[in-house]
Amino acid sequence: MRNKICKELNNTDIGKLVNLCGWVDRRRDHGGVIFIDLRDHSGFLQITINPDDGADLFKQAETLRNETVIMVSGIINERPKDSINKNLSTGELELKVKDLQILNQIKKNLPFPVSIHDYENTKEELRLKYRYLDLRRGKLLENLKTRHKIIKVAREFLDNFGFTEVETPLLTKSTPEGARDFLVPARLSNGEFFALPQSPQLFKQLLMVGGLDKYYQIAKCFRDEDLRADRQPEFTQLDIEMSFISEKEIISFNESLIKKIWKEVLNINFDNAFPRMSWQEAMDNYGTDRPDTRYQMLLKDLGEVLGDIGFNIFTKAIKSGGFIKSITVKGGNESISNVRIKPGGDIFQVAQDAGAGGLAFIRVKGDELETIGAIKNNLNDKHIADILRITEAKDGDLILLGAGDKQIVNQSLDRVRQYIANDLNLIDTSKWNFLWVTDFPMFERNEEENRYEALHHPFCSPKNINSKNPENLKKEIENSIANAYDLVLNGLELGGGSLRIHEANLQREVLKTVGLTDKEIDEKFGFLIEALEMGAPPHGGIAFGLDRITMLIIGADSIRETIAFPKNQQAKCLLTNAPSNVSELQLKELDIEITIDE
Ligand code: AMO
Repeated sequence: MRNKICKELNNTDIGKLVNLCGWVDRRRDHGGVIFIDLRDHSGFLQITINPDDGADLFKQAETLRNETVIMVSGIINERPKDSINKNLSTGELELKVKDLQILNQIKKNLPFPVSIHDYENTKEELRLKYRYLDLRRGKLLENLKTRHKIIKVAREFLDNFGFTEVETPLLTKSTPEGARDFLVPARLSNGEFFALPQSPQLFKQLLMVGGLDKYYQIAKCFRDEDLRADRQPEFTQLDIEMSFISEKEIISFNESLIKKIWKEVLNINFDNAFPRMSWQEAMDNYGTDRPDTRYQMLLKDLGEVLGDIGFNIFTKAIKSGGFIKSITVKGGNESISNVRIKPGGDIFQVAQDAGAGGLAFIRVKGDELETIGAIKNNLNDKHIADILRITEAKDGDLILLGAGDKQIVNQSLDRVRQYIANDLNLIDTSKWNFLWVTDFPMFERNEEENRYEALHHPFCSPKNINSKNPENLKKEIENSIANAYDLVLNGLELGGGSLRIHEANLQREVLKTVGLTDKEIDEKFGFLIEALEMGAPPHGGIAFGLDRITMLIIGADSIRETIAFPKNQQAKCLLTNAPSNVSELQLKELDIEITIDE
């Protein structure tokens, strides 16, 4: 229908007859001449229609509305000098229309202007409902192209190293990745359900047992969990698995894959190896296993100094096995007022939202510490010297303190640290701080349910397990470190993986440790245990969040900007109105009855 697209036009086309198709981006009527900005997927061109060009043509042009779909043909002319638009690649050209066809007239008012790319002032709910219009604005299409490029680079890279892309089932059995499953009722086995995969974890392991050696997949994963800017119920992993491989080799191979993506997509080189940090070090210094290392304000442990000064909250924290930890805000006496860190203040609120009961503070003023009486009255010179030494605080600095349950103290100070870094502009946003976090514990304690939970998933192999005696083996496993690693970028978890268990008895023990009985293990994971008994090679791998990689590369603040048709924060597709009711007949076929508790 066309012999050119806007982007292709240049001065060599002057005087030529061209056919173009696209949308009316804007129509302006100026002193008898109609100017139209024609937009196609590649760019813009100004087209002009004169009354002298024919009454019918002109009349038709007067009916054009923003977003009308048109086909035009005419001669490319040079624009008059005073109307050149330097911001457009075709800004020196215009098309004098000879023929205009309306391919699709606008029949509804647009919910938001397409031509003005005013994202901030268009409600996201509207952008999601009319996603096709939002796409047409161009920016999202660019994001999808970048995403495509990332996938292309990864595919080529992996193909060059002998990887095979294999699709694994979507209708399957649940794999525990820590979220709730999406279930699909199975009509042919009434009363039974498939689970949509939270990841291809077990299938990729079975491919290794099957001798594939090097697997990858651009894999759709489904997790019913609380949504955040970097989480969708349906997302995509770049999923990788390899046989006969060490942790060191997996890390270095995947690091070169990530470096290749940054090189090809952003032309950024990373000459040095990505830094590494143990999980313990990350938790101690940052309170999180995905530390943002672009700024300081590290967490410091003041338990030894403040645990027995006689301040009730501190004493209780240490007695019940908790922490007293702090962060030091350089120059915080100036930049952060008391109102903000006391109850009702925004920083106090951040700590509280993360579960903390409160937030104590100390201001360093010359040689003096200014703090609440209950703390201050109990500090002697040695305490003060120790506090200053450990927190590295100097005159003018503010020390914020959290005390209580270990996890809550870490979590709240981590959030406060991030919040203040943003608030005070302490983050160098030009940095790409990659970090491998390694040596995760195998398990964490779920105190509520009085059992262990796998920190990654229960297929990670434990380090240095030697025992043949079952009782000792159990203890060794419980306290073991996993052969697991996460890749973190600027405080966001990009990917995670591990060496897997390839021996059936060890796999059974680990599943028992997370609370499964032998019967449950056979029911849920019998197929895996059996496969491990029939010649499973040592293997391991990793999965990267493709949406997150794309989000960071394009500099967006939500993965929704990287997905063509995402769900909203309530896990709904506003465009199609899914999820929605189904017919009585469909339910009957599945023997499902809906009972909604009013
Ligand atoms: P994990 O659960 O760490 O590991 O997931 C791997 C990566 O997937 C991304 N991710 C998500 N992205 C968007 N929305 C979500 N809801 C979401 N959940 C996870 C993250 C994360 O780092 N099978 C293992 C991998 C392995 O061991 O090889 C797994 O799925 O970027």
